Parts: sequence; structure tokens; C-alpha cells
Amino acid sequence: MASVANGGGGANGGNKVFSLRLQYYCVMAAVVVAVMVLSLVLVSPAAMGAVRENLGSVVAAASSAGGGVRGDAVVAGEATVAAERELEPPVVLFNFGDSNSDTGGVAAAGGIRIMPPEGRTYFQHPTGRLSDGRVIIDFICESLNTHELNPYLKSIGSDYSNGVNFAMAGSTVSRGVSPYSLNVQVDQFVYFKHRSLELFGRGLKGPVNKEGFENALYMMDIGHNDVAGVMHTPSDKWDKKLREIVGEIKDAIRILHDNGARKFWIHGTGALGCLPALVVQEKGEHDAHGCLAKYNRAAQEFNKRLSDLCDEMRLHVKNATIVYTDMFAIKYDFVANHTKYGMSATASKHAR
Ligand SMILES: *[C@@H]1O[C@H](CO)[C@@H](O)[C@H](O)[C@H]1NC(C)=O
Ligand SMILES: *[C@@H]1O[C@H](CO)[C@@H](O)[C@H](O)[C@H]1NC(C)=O
Repeated sequence: MASVANGGGGANGGNKVFSLRLQYYCVMAAVVVAVMVLSLVLVSPAAMGAVRENLGSVVAAASSAGGGVRGDAVVAGEATVAAERELEPPVVLFNFGDSNSDTGGVAAAGGIRIMPPEGRTYFQHPTGRLSDGRVIIDFICESLNTHELNPYLKSIGSDYSNGVNFAMAGSTVSRGVSPYSLNVQVDQFVYFKHRSLELFGRGLKGPVNKEGFENALYMMDIGHNDVAGVMHTPSDKWDKKLREIVGEIKDAIRILHDNGARKFWIHGTGALGCLPALVVQEKGEHDAHGCLAKYNRAAQEFNKRLSDLCDEMRLHVKNATIVYTDMFAIKYDFVANHTKYGMSATASKHAR
């Protein structure tokens, strides 16, 4: 959602405070993500089971520590465990998204040199993320014991052995509205897959092999910019627009499935109406927590349709596991219960 221009910190005092507030939001969102990953393990074994199955033994090994280590490995000690790890297939992820999961794609594509202090809270250098710290995909990679996912368009120092991040800040699901809309990201994936398998076909080492693509997790975290855009159209068009957006996501899942994807992890949008940038810029009715009610209703309506789509596709798409994750509930809880996550009441008053 946030634009690149918001990332650099303002020259005057007001902007500085504003960018600090954004930073708080990003950092705290990151904390919430970590909590989410944890709570998925604790609260929803069924949902986590699907991912675990998809990601094979790496996740299983991490989550079953204490109970699930096989007896022979325990007796033989660490050397055997290490040897077994070597044989485990690497975790492979392909992510499609917007700024919520961009790990430097727009910066690389646009040749944008983002300056410090971007990156200060974790990487200690600018990374092109629209956050001073990590974004959700970084936490997911960490929880799966794999290195961070490199942007598709990052030409220097990229390692795609654990997959590719196609997410680009500002991207939409809707075609033609943004240069790297979801259908373009999916085309890029198909291109990447062909080139990678072509290398293996010629006896060379490509970044991801056939099994890697088959077992990979295909993630989507996109739609925020679309839903925000819908709010700027006449309300009698909203239903049709939301239907079109969800229809595009359906097409994307289908094309990925036709190209061998079997494990899907789909995020709904967050609490759009609580984004500080929107709260500051837009007028309208506020809810009990200072968020724009209209935007949150639209986000929830979109999420409901997306969740219904996942239910529907689970029935009709062969051999696929499709997990829908309610990001709205997670992020809205963070705002509503901010004190639980270490945010003071003063900070919340300023964020209005
Ligand atoms: C589903 O997966 C099983 C096991 O991998 C395979 O034998 C079967 O052919 C698959 N079915 C379809 C329709 O792809
Ligand atoms: C805030 O936290 C309480 C207690 O954990 C919970 O019942 C409630 O649903 C949370 N509020 C939101 C908006 O998530």
C-alpha cells in the first residue's frame, strides 16, 4: 500500500513523526506475523498440517522437535540428524504479491536507490522493502528454516534455490492497473519454470528442479491496492469490481495449477482502514479503534469472497491443498489490542 516515497523519512518534523509512526506499524505488524505463525501452529493444527505436508520434512522436523525425532537418529546423535537433513528436499516458495511482501522487487526493477534509515531495524542496510524491518514473507521463510526469498528482478546476488518472490510494491490483481499485476507475476513464474527446467534438461544445474516445483508452496498476498481502488469508484460498481478481482485470482490459481502447483497459501487483505496513511489522508466514519470503517468493511467483504473462492476451488481443483489465511483478523487484533503487543495508548491517540 505505502508508496516508495513514504519510505525515506521526511525532511521536516511532521513527516519524520509520520514516517516513525509508519515504522511502528511495520515493526508491530512484523511482530503480529510472528505471533500469527506461532498461533497457527498452536491454534490451528489442521491448517498448519496442510502446509507441513506441502513443505515436507523440514517443517515436520522443526515442529515435532521433542516428540517426533526418530529413535535411531537420537541414538546415533547429531551426525545422523545432519546427514538426514542434507537429504531432505529444500523448501521452495513462490510468492505473488504487493508491498506487503515485496523484498526489494520494485527497487531492483526501477533502479531505485533507497537510502538509510530504511532497513535499520533488522538488516542494518537498505533492502528495498517497504519496511524498516522484515515483511511477512521473511518471517515465513525463517519459520521454514530457509533463507529470505529473492525478488525475481534482482540481478545482483540473487539465489533462487529456495524459490522466487514475484511480489512488487503497488501491484494489483487487476490487469493493466499496475505494471506487475498478478497475471504478469504468474507469467513470470511460468517463464522462470521453463528456463529452470530447460537448464536441467541440458544437464546443467538450474535453481529449482522438477520435484522442487511440484512440492513448492505457492503464496499470494495481494489485493490491498485493488480494494483501496474500488473505494474510489461509485458504490453501485463495488460488487462488480470485487467479483472481477476475485475472478482474476481464480484464473491465477488455475494457471498455476495447470503448471503443476499443488500447494497454495492465500492471504486475505489486512485491516485496510487502519493503515496510518489512509487514516491520515481519507475522510469518513471511524470505528471504535480509530480505523476507517468503510475501508475495513470493503476489506472484509473482499476477504469473504476470497475465502469462498478457496472453498470452491478446494472442491474442484484436483489434488490441491488450498489454505486461506484471515489476515484481517490478525492485523485488526493488533490495532484493537495494541497494548497487548507493547504499543502505548499515547501512540494510538497520535495514529488517529
Ligand atoms: C493425484 O495425486 C496422485 C498421487 O500423487 C496421483 O496418482 C493422481 O494421478 C493425481 N490425480 C490427478 C487428477 O492429478
Ligand atoms: C482483542 O483481544 C481479545 C482478548 O484476546 C479478543 O477477545 C478480541 O477479539 C480482540 N479484538 C480484536 C478486534 O481482535
